[in-house]
Amino acid sequence: MKLVSHPPDLRSSLEDLASPRILVPTMGALHEGHLALLRHARQLAGKSGSVILTLFVNPTQFDKAEDLEHYPRTLENDIELCRTHGVDLLFAPTPDSMYHPDHSVTVVETALTHQLCGATRPGHFDGVCTIVLKLFNLSQPDAAVFGKKDYQQLAVIRRMARDLNVPVHIEGVDTVREASGLALSSRNTRLSERQHADAPRIRRALLAAHAAHAHGETSARLLLDLARREINASAAGARIDYLELLDAESLRPIDPVSAPAVLATAVFYGSVRLIDNIELPG
Ligand code: PAF
Repeated sequence: MKLVSHPPDLRSSLEDLASPRILVPTMGALHEGHLALLRHARQLAGKSGSVILTLFVNPTQFDKAEDLEHYPRTLENDIELCRTHGVDLLFAPTPDSMYHPDHSVTVVETALTHQLCGATRPGHFDGVCTIVLKLFNLSQPDAAVFGKKDYQQLAVIRRMARDLNVPVHIEGVDTVREASGLALSSRNTRLSERQHADAPRIRRALLAAHAAHAHGETSARLLLDLARREINASAAGARIDYLELLDAESLRPIDPVSAPAVLATAVFYGSVRLIDNIELPG
C-alpha cells in the first residue's frame, strides 16, 4: 500500500493504479462500517483494479468548532486497517495542503439541503460537496462508495454528480450495525455506557414505523408519532434533533406515503449527535 499526503503526489501516483479505480472517501476513525465500504470497493475494482481510501477530517463541513476538535483521530490504527484490508493507495492530506489560504470557490446544492441535517448544520453540505468534488478531481476514480447511513449526503452527492456531469459512478452501501441495531459511527465512542445502552432505541423507533407502514399505515403523521414516542421514552436523555418522513428522491415531506420514502432522524445524547434512517417502499 502506498501512503501519500500531498495532492501533487496523489496526482502523480495515479498512473501506477490500474483501472477501474474505486474511491472510498472517509474522515478516518475507521470502523466496521468503513470496512464494509472497502469490501464493496474491492468487489467493484475486482482483483486487478485499485482501491483508493482518502482520510481527511474536512474542516469546512463542521459548523461547530467543538465537533471538529472532538472528532476522533486514530491515524496509526487507520493506516494499519487500510494495509490489512486491500487499500492500494491511502491519501491522508493536511488541511493546509487541501485548501488555499484564500480559497473562495464552493459547491452549493440548493434543493436537497434545506431539510434534515442541512436545516440544523448550515454550510455542512457545501463543505461536503466541495471536498468530495476536490477528491474526485484529485483521484479521478471510476466509482466512489458512500454509506447509506448518511442518506442525505448520498442523495446530495448523487445530485452533484448528475448536475455537474461528474464522470464518477456513485454507489451506496447498506448501514452496518451493532448486534443491538445501533448504526456504527465514529461518534459512538463518545457515548457514555448508559447512552450507548439506550441508543438502539433509534433503530427500534424506525423499525416500528417501518412495520406499521408494511401493515398498511400510510399516514406520515401517525408513522412519525410512532417513532417519536419510542425515542422520547428514553431514560438516558435522548433528544430529537429532527425526525422526518420524506420522498426518497426529492427529500420533500411526503404524506400519505404513496411513493418510496425515507424516515430519517438525528438524535442527541448530550453533545453526541447520532443519525439513522430507514427506507419505506412506496
Ligand atoms: O461521510 C464522510 O465521512 C464525509 O462527509 C466525507 C464524504 C468523507 C466528506 O468529507
